Amino acid sequence: MRTPLLAANWKLYKSLAEALAYADALLAALDAEGDCLRVELAVCPPFPLLYPLAEAFKGSSVSVGAQNVSEYLEGAFTGETGINQLDGLGLGYVIIGHSERRNVFRESNEAIADKLKIALTKSSLVPILCVGEPLDYRKDGRELDFVKSQLQTALKDVEPSDAERIVIAYEPIWAIGTGVNAEPKDAEEMAAEIRDWLSGSFGIAAAQSVRILYGGSIKPANWKDIYAGPNVDGGLVGGASLDPADFYTLYQLMLG
Ligand code: PGA
Repeated sequence: MRTPLLAANWKLYKSLAEALAYADALLAALDAEGDCLRVELAVCPPFPLLYPLAEAFKGSSVSVGAQNVSEYLEGAFTGETGINQLDGLGLGYVIIGHSERRNVFRESNEAIADKLKIALTKSSLVPILCVGEPLDYRKDGRELDFVKSQLQTALKDVEPSDAERIVIAYEPIWAIGTGVNAEPKDAEEMAAEIRDWLSGSFGIAAAQSVRILYGGSIKPANWKDIYAGPNVDGGLVGGASLDPADFYTLYQLMLG
């Protein structure tokens, strides 16, 4: 059984004080609910907030994740944060290959493959690998080819024994931060195709273990329908994760 996951991607938002107030509010809501562990929660803040938030959420069902990691282990790489700095902070996850990293910061498919490999082989963190097509590929009906080629490059060095640890987030680029979400049937169809591709590449057991998330303009009004897809194991949420009440509402929708 795959444990559903709802992950908050805060991007470049929140001060330390705001992050700690958010943790208090989310923990209070979960306590009141009797925190049932049927759905995993993760919060991915900017780097300097990782450790304070990992301390704030210690012992709860909320994990903390990084939004990126260097493809280099160590060396003369000013401004980078490596897996050795992340491992040991008490984190659960690391997002790899978000479309903003790929498009704004020009991260190549090869760099993303290196990041995935380093996270899998040099840490105990669970990588959340993001894939997703630009609008013109969707319009031309070539979205699957695009996503498959991203998967092929990113996972080319992954051992079958490591594959089941990966979480894959399908985030169509045209849906991120735009208010336009994918249709539930399209999100489910792509999640099913990704699982099928995993099965062909790593075997049925790994494909059945990997959690596949949807991301892109998730909000309380659309989440129940998107999450209903049997291959959609949760969500990666940007804008609607910034308010703890909204994030908590999304979580409650997953409890059914
Ligand atoms: P959004 O962002 O929910 O604001 O569309 C999702 C993401 O970038 O992961």
